[in-house]
Amino acid sequence: MGPFPMAISTLGSLGDLLPVPWLEAGAPPLEIDVGCHKGLFLIDMALRFPERNFLGIELQAERVEKTRRKIRRRGLVNAVVAQAEGLAALEGLPRECAAYIHVLFPDPWPKRRHNVRRLVQGRFLEAAHRVLETEGILRLVTDDRDYAVAMEKAVENCSGLARSESESRIYPPTEFQKKFSGEAHAMHVLELEKVVSGTSLS
Ligand SMILES: C[S@@+](CC[C@H](N)C(=O)[O-])C[C@H]1O[C@@H](n2cnc3c(N)ncnc32)[C@H](O)[C@@H]1O
Repeated sequence: MGPFPMAISTLGSLGDLLPVPWLEAGAPPLEIDVGCHKGLFLIDMALRFPERNFLGIELQAERVEKTRRKIRRRGLVNAVVAQAEGLAALEGLPRECAAYIHVLFPDPWPKRRHNVRRLVQGRFLEAAHRVLETEGILRLVTDDRDYAVAMEKAVENCSGLARSESESRIYPPTEFQKKFSGEAHAMHVLELEKVVSGTSLS
């Protein structure tokens, strides 16, 4: 689904959904996975990086519940998941609270008339820029070439985000990747670094 103006007020402010110590000065770096599905990537990352905190954001209640169950089963204290719309969630989070935002295989909405529903557009980039710390990373991954081109175009209008020069980490697969492993799926990765504070759109 796209960036519907779904209020998160029914869920409380997203700041309330994060453990309070996660937002305190000196807290471990926060990573956000927007559209985390059933949490495969989120949980693998939380296991791999116990010294970092992970917030998953997912629209669908059933997937959120499945992710929560996995987090509980593994006794993870550095992962939480919120049922929320991704753009609204970022807009509800405090400024400069995150080191990484991952957007992995967002719904491509390939029909031209549906393109407006895509999550990654100017307003989303602006919200991501606000939430990222300086030098924080926004990682956009899609297998849809047309969406990748549209993402690149949107980024061109965003002076506060530049292609990251730093070496990328090796990441665990997501549910989507696992499902299509073995098939010829191109992967377009756009890794962007927050280069200035202030507004993102030039
Ligand atoms: C194609 S799946 C990819 C899931 C996962 N990132 C992966 O790579 O396996 C897209 C996911 O994003 C969720 N989603 C779609 N639109 C969203 C939005 N606006 N905010 C939050 N989650 C959204 C969907 O429910 C779905 O779980």
